Amino acid sequence: MASCPALDRLHIDPQELRRALGSFPTGVSIVTTRDAEGNPRGMTANSFTSVSLDPPLILVCVSKMASSFPAFGGCDAFAVNLLHEKQGRISSLFASKVVDKFADIDHDIFHTGAPVLSDCLTWFDCTVHERVDAGDHVVLLGRVEAFATTALKPLAFCRGRYAEVKDPQPPLRTVKG
Ligand SMILES: Cc1cc2nc3c(=O)[nH]c(=O)nc-3n(C[C@H](O)[C@H](O)[C@H](O)COP(=O)(O)O)c2cc1C
Repeated sequence: MASCPALDRLHIDPQELRRALGSFPTGVSIVTTRDAEGNPRGMTANSFTSVSLDPPLILVCVSKMASSFPAFGGCDAFAVNLLHEKQGRISSLFASKVVDKFADIDHDIFHTGAPVLSDCLTWFDCTVHERVDAGDHVVLLGRVEAFATTALKPLAFCRGRYAEVKDPQPPLRTVKG
């Protein structure tokens, strides 16, 4: 039987765990909200997951180390903006510590007041359904209040690099909530 390095140890090495988790391909999103002063805040997140259709719930995990964490920890609403294949630069911007990440980024307000990127693959405008404390992250569960999607190709992420989804199916229709 082949040995499994991760199971050979009693101690879980965080770097090795991060590498193993990174083998799961994901899309890339920018999760956005407003801070207590009303300023737009946002960070790149690939922890986005669909949770429930009835009620309509999604989740994203926010690090307690993020400088925008207080904004996400105290908000009533947030938006998840899924990125398309041409938006690697925007992903890098929102994964950085640049102070005003929204300076050159067009954004709109729809249902909740959370910033929605004018250019993205798909967006979900959510009210906070629940926050779950989870180690060094908080799981932010959102109830989808409005959304829209496009036929663009998604930006993907795997093993620390941006990747391409070769043959995405076009959506049957574009929906706006
Ligand atoms: C592709 C990618 C995915 C990421 N996913 C997450 C995530 O799901 N949750 C998280 O807390 N940080 C994630 N990060 C890291 C944050 O984007 C990064 O720490 C950022 O600097 C946080 O911004 P802030 O400190 O201005 O809040 C990701 C970074 C990249 C490049």
